[in-house]
Amino acid sequence: MTDSKSIFLVVGAAGKFARLLIPELLRRNSTVRGLVRNAERGDLARSWGTTQIAIGDLRNPDSLKRAVEGVDGIFHIGPAFAPDEAAMGIALIEAATRGGVRKFVFSSVIQPTNTRLKNHASKIPVEEALYSSRLNYTILHPANFMQNIGLTWSSILRTGEFAEPFPKETKIARVDYRDVAEVAAIALTEAKLDFATLELCAGMFSRLEIVSILTKELGRPIAAREPTFEQWAKNTPLPYNDQQIHLLSKVHEHYREFGLGGNSLSLAAALGREPRSMSQYIAELARQTLAEEGTKLKDHNNA
Ligand SMILES: NC(=O)c1ccc[n+]([C@@H]2O[C@H](COP(=O)([O-])OP(=O)(O)OC[C@H]3O[C@@H](n4cnc5c(N)ncnc54)[C@H](OP(=O)(O)O)[C@@H]3O)[C@@H](O)[C@H]2O)c1
Repeated sequence: MTDSKSIFLVVGAAGKFARLLIPELLRRNSTVRGLVRNAERGDLARSWGTTQIAIGDLRNPDSLKRAVEGVDGIFHIGPAFAPDEAAMGIALIEAATRGGVRKFVFSSVIQPTNTRLKNHASKIPVEEALYSSRLNYTILHPANFMQNIGLTWSSILRTGEFAEPFPKETKIARVDYRDVAEVAAIALTEAKLDFATLELCAGMFSRLEIVSILTKELGRPIAAREPTFEQWAKNTPLPYNDQQIHLLSKVHEHYREFGLGGNSLSLAAALGREPRSMSQYIAELARQTLAEEGTKLKDHNNA
């Protein structure tokens, strides 16, 4: 008997964001093939539910040729601040075209034409390559990910502060990447988002608004702090080299001057429901923390 499930190649299946697509595709009865760079990352991707593993590298076209064999669609997200991010995306589009792949979903960035920011501009050649291909594409323009707050959660709990290197009143467009993943899964498995280019944003939030939600949900005061970029980068575990940190500093410089605009209309339309809100995102993290703290207290009292 042949397996009639659609197969989708997911770039970054072992990474922190693309992995959120795995449950969405499995829920839609699809086979997920994760593109990972080594067996260890393959094990991690499998632990999150990836069904098949393709060991490959976006810098190695032969490995991409093998990875796309027999797939119905591809989800691509480029590694942040990589100097050759555009070349990697183009190489994957070429492999998809040669391999006769039908569908290509690209997780790009909000405002890719904001060329003051190199990590935004680096998405433009990939989008151009899709517009000049015969692939059935869907291009996603996600805002700043709410999951960035989750990445600093332990520091928020430890210090009682939420620190970012731009003014507390500045509003930044944010989105829960689980919603982006859901839109990507819809685009891969249904026709309704064919050839769409979509801004994906749940709303704009200042740090003052975020700490007021944190304070309410955690039931303890959390303050908004504004360190310099240098102080912030020193205290934040960033997987970047000096050049990449320089590019990130430009992003924060831009936020400091202009904030980041975004609109939730197209995300709600693509999902067919309201996007997950900032309050929901923080409430989930806080519930987990309070449950863990409650368990620790109970264990302590029983000891
Ligand atoms: N953070 C935000 O708020 C935000 C907002 C909008 C858009 N974006 C965009 O989202 C993208 C992803 O961000 P991220 O890098 O922080 O996410 P990430 O989840 O850490 O993704 C990076 C993934 O790419 C994989 N990768 C790196 N180099 C590769 C290569 N040569 N070949 C194959 N796979 C490779 C990594 O693989 P391994 O698992 O092997 O390490 C990792 O899984 C960036 O383009 C960024 O501009 C981010």
